[in-house]
Amino acid sequence: MLNYKSASEKDLQSEYTKLKDEYDAFCSKNLSLDMSRGKPCKEQLDISNDIFDVLKSDSNFLSEDGFDCRNYGLLEGLPEMKRIFAQMLQAPEENIMVGGNSSLNMMFDTISCFMTKGINGCKPWLLQNKIKFLCPVPGYDRHFAITEYFGFEMINIPMLKDGPDMDMIEMLVSSDDAIKGIWCVPKYSNPQGIVYSDSVVKRFASLKPKAKDFRIMWDNAYCVHDFCEKPQKLLSLYDECLKNGNEDLPIMFCSTSKITFPGAGVAAMAASDNNMKIIKDKYKYKTIGYDKINMLRHARYFKDYNGIVEHAKLHAKVLKPRFDTVIDSLTKNLKETSVAEWVEPCGGYFVSVDVMPGCAKRTIELCKQAGVKLTCAGATYPYHTDPNDSNIRIAPSYPPMQELKIAMEVFCISAKIAAIEKIMKQ
Ligand SMILES: Cc1ncc(COP(=O)(O)O)c(C=O)c1O
Repeated sequence: MLNYKSASEKDLQSEYTKLKDEYDAFCSKNLSLDMSRGKPCKEQLDISNDIFDVLKSDSNFLSEDGFDCRNYGLLEGLPEMKRIFAQMLQAPEENIMVGGNSSLNMMFDTISCFMTKGINGCKPWLLQNKIKFLCPVPGYDRHFAITEYFGFEMINIPMLKDGPDMDMIEMLVSSDDAIKGIWCVPKYSNPQGIVYSDSVVKRFASLKPKAKDFRIMWDNAYCVHDFCEKPQKLLSLYDECLKNGNEDLPIMFCSTSKITFPGAGVAAMAASDNNMKIIKDKYKYKTIGYDKINMLRHARYFKDYNGIVEHAKLHAKVLKPRFDTVIDSLTKNLKETSVAEWVEPCGGYFVSVDVMPGCAKRTIELCKQAGVKLTCAGATYPYHTDPNDSNIRIAPSYPPMQELKIAMEVFCISAKIAAIEKIMKQ
């Protein structure tokens, strides 16, 4: 296979003609394939169907502490669910709050809460001049959408092989008190699938922010979503923070969205006593209590944290071949061209591909014209602006395997066409 960067113009031209023929052949097939969002496929949804048999009209609806789950109350959620989430979030049970059907919703609420309630003796963020947030990139578009919604200035932090650039984070948070937070997906980050190393977690736990109201938004959405033989371990941020007297720094989130059903699972958060006091004070106005029947259903279905881990393995069986298909296709079609790079993840929901700088938009456009939908270019960056126009997020979970194979063929051809066009122009 041709290395595009060192190939002659003549060779590139004939490669381009060949690729265009292949591309046109795909276009004539009227494909309609979707690799845009990280949604579980039907096979994965079916895994959890028997959760609906757990509760019936003649079931006992009492939680383990005797609370009737059909009624109002228990703002913090069922103790049996708190115990499970404590292990998922690696934080003490008494610092867990179980919420509704979405962790993203709890993240939004947390920021909204800090807008109107000051933390650590500081003014509410709404009354402070400027609020800045650090955004490891590439990252999760919906995180950036929340901080954009509240009008915060977002600062890109490059992701390195074992987590975000900690030198840059330490330098920025220790010198600028307008920086109030950072978004983190510490295990199988969205989209690169990177697991933060012990050193990165320890450095987060020992940050010395200039702003007394700086908080780490630790979104552990993929805490049990391993699909390799040896799952990668994440150090407990909360434990590390405790060692440094920094337990007020992190606010942690997760949910069962991609374990049972997205939008119909159970979400939770963990935070120190000081943070929880402020957060619960807001929740008590917001709701009398979340859906405890769904919590009970989940608690009885899984029984304990180990039940969650075992269930996640069933998802892994469906997901692994899909991820293998994506990686195999990238390796076979793009490796030797040297115009694309990617990270091979061991879990999570995405594969992040960096095509040749200046080629992401064009690659996505070519895919679209051939009937393959990808996440929009720039979506993995704040303000939808990828300064290199290079990052593309691939979501392999949703399309059936056969379709995924075809979609990846189209993707690789498109990335190659876009790269040759760019090189020729230069
Ligand atoms: C990093 C991350 N956090 C949160 C979510 C959404 O979680 P939930 O369904 O609990 O709101 C997603 C969904 O893709 C995600 O990738």
